[in-house]
Amino acid sequence: MRYADLEISSPFVAAPMAGVSSPAFRIMAREGGASLVYTEMVSAAGLVRELPRTMVLTRVLPQEHPVGLQLFGADPEVMGAAAAKACRLLAGQVALIDINMGCPVRKVRRQGAGSALLDDPVRAGEVAAAVVENSTLPVTVKLRLGWRGDELTKVLPPVLAAGVRGVTLHARSAKQAYAGEADWSAIARLKSWCPVPVIGNGDVTDHEKAVAMLEQTGCDLVMIGRAARGDPWIFGRAAARWRGEPVARVSLEQRRQALWRHVELARRTGGRGHALHFVRQFMMYYTKGLPGAVVFRRAAGAARDLEEITAITERYFQSLLERAA
Ligand SMILES: Cc1cc2nc3c(=O)[nH]c(=O)nc-3n(C[C@H](O)[C@H](O)[C@H](O)COP(=O)(O)O)c2cc1C
Repeated sequence: MRYADLEISSPFVAAPMAGVSSPAFRIMAREGGASLVYTEMVSAAGLVRELPRTMVLTRVLPQEHPVGLQLFGADPEVMGAAAAKACRLLAGQVALIDINMGCPVRKVRRQGAGSALLDDPVRAGEVAAAVVENSTLPVTVKLRLGWRGDELTKVLPPVLAAGVRGVTLHARSAKQAYAGEADWSAIARLKSWCPVPVIGNGDVTDHEKAVAMLEQTGCDLVMIGRAARGDPWIFGRAAARWRGEPVARVSLEQRRQALWRHVELARRTGGRGHALHFVRQFMMYYTKGLPGAVVFRRAAGAARDLEEITAITERYFQSLLERAA
């Protein structure tokens, strides 16, 4: 199966998520069966100036491949320069460049970037053209429907004319942020006329919904975001269901081991501070739905350092494993 010139193993890919899509998250997602992963959105201006806090976000490890680098920005010249620099500095590390035209966050929109580009098809086309012209990698775009309604037939033609090779649609308006439901019928509508592969995205909460999105919308691939936090196996389960194979249940012991593997990867790739931040953020996802999780999270949330949080978490999992034995 192919997407934007890449050979990939299944239709289920991991979403770019700021503050989440670290190398540790991406490795976990790849090991769980995601066929493609993305960096979180990276500032084009920061990349051009090689700001340390931006460059950290572009670090990719060999076991993550294939990885899409996502760029955000509003100035075609800066976006083009960032694409050229990424292709030079990250040659062999990233497999495609994705342009963010969907971020609804005010700080990003105020710069004219992210979903602000949906209001300005001319600029959106210029940004896409600048990235394509300066890139030796395939270029794709990720967007929402529009600011309020479905504006895709206005904004996408100039972007596609620039040579963009794939489109990911989070089927909500930017104004909606995360309210309401993603409108999967808009993915089907886009698929009916879009000449390049379409990745459907929005509200895939489990592996069954992932396969349902493929079937209901006809999209080529499905992108999973929030549901993959603490459930890296969702990609493999979806692929099994899609192939008609049995779907394995995730055991408590697997969850325990995955949490520690994720922490260890976070420590190795980002240091102890990153690991502590990660455990705080992710322990609630890895323990979602487990008995006593609320009390555990309160205790773990109050822990001061990695040792204390590790001990509390390990005690919690031991008690669950003993109860289940
Ligand atoms: C914490 C968080 C950070 C996100 N950061 C990005 C980002 O950097 N770039 C992007 O294109 N989308 C970003 N998104 C949007 C997701 O990629 C995805 O489109 C959205 O969550 C809908 O998919 P889901 O319902 O599977 O979560 C982010 C979402 C979340 C929850």
